[in-house]
Amino acid sequence: MKKAVIYSIGLTIVVASSAMGQAGDPAKLIGTKKCAMCHKKDETGNQFGKWQATAHAHAYELLATEEAKAVGAKLGIDNPQTSGKCLKCHSTAYWFTETKQTEAVAVEDGVSCESCHGPGADYKSKAIMENHTDAMAAGMVYPAKEKSCTLCHNDTGPTWKADRYTTASGEKTGFDVVQAYEKIKHDRPAK
Ligand code: HEC
Ligand code: HEC
Ligand code: HEC
Ligand code: HEC
Repeated sequence: MKKAVIYSIGLTIVVASSAMGQAGDPAKLIGTKKCAMCHKKDETGNQFGKWQATAHAHAYELLATEEAKAVGAKLGIDNPQTSGKCLKCHSTAYWFTETKQTEAVAVEDGVSCESCHGPGADYKSKAIMENHTDAMAAGMVYPAKEKSCTLCHNDTGPTWKADRYTTASGEKTGFDVVQAYEKIKHDRPAK
């Protein structure tokens, strides 16, 4: 009986998240600087520094390029850096919608931690973070692979290329999580 209740709650969350993007309340976004306070030491993997070196940290800057302006122009968008039609995937601050959802995340930060790991307000304390079960219960998304990625890496984006990746078995695909993850991974060093 108890199990059935848990399953039905799980199902509701899945349905809600597929309609709205990543699960979680955008009012609970806290911004990259807060995560960086504890996630920039080399001993524990410097996730902040590694993220800064990825395309995601520059997804907003990218929208100012000539290439992005040309993509926007075809859709009647003058300035992609101010259009919700672009920022819904190029900035965590828009949180998968066409309007800005929070002031806590700088739009300039592009695609930041919480787009993949969920809004942090309830899981950011050290005591909760150190306990995987508690962090998950407080809204942390982990693992964040594939399901999180395809919220943005999908054929509704204006630059989607169905043959961008060639998988290990030789198939062409628009997104291959195995190769893409290698380019963004920010693991803790092995103990
Ligand atoms: C007060 C310090 C602190 C803050 C702030 C913080 N974290 Fe953490 N985080 C930790 C600690 C400590 C761990 C556990 C690391 C370990 O065990 O090596 C952790 C673990 C994690 C993990 C791995 C979880 C697991 O179960 O393996 C993720 C993902 C994560 N943090 C993301 C974030 C994100 C995203 C933010 C910002 C929204 C954030 N953290 C803010 C301290 C913090
Ligand atoms: C559905 C999510 C989504 C939307 C909406 C979106 N983008 Fe993107 N954009 C992406 C992703 C994901 C990439 C990374 C390329 C990839 O791997 O598919 C990207 C890459 C790009 C690139 C780099 C070119 C390339 O082929 O990698 C440009 C330029 C760009 N987007 C412009 C725009 C503009 C301008 C808009 C608004 C008109 C926009 N995007 C809206 C998800 C999106
Ligand atoms: C594009 C999505 C994405 C972004 C952005 C992102 N992460 Fe992650 N993160 C992942 C994935 C995927 C993993 C591997 C585990 C998993 O499958 O969730 C991971 C793992 C982690 C881990 C655990 C590492 C380990 O070895 O166990 C921590 C800590 C973490 N991320 C923190 C952060 C912080 C802090 C930021 C921002 C500075 C961030 N992440 C940005 C997707 C992301
Ligand atoms: C909130 C939207 C969003 C999410 C979620 C997201 N991405 Fe991205 N990703 C983008 C955008 C936008 C770009 C283009 C940014 C740029 O080129 O500056 C991009 C670019 C990339 C790139 C560089 C271009 C390429 O295809 O080689 C990689 C690799 C990548 N993402 C991997 C991932 C992985 C792996 C995940 C899931 C763990 C993920 N992304 C989740 C929006 C997203």
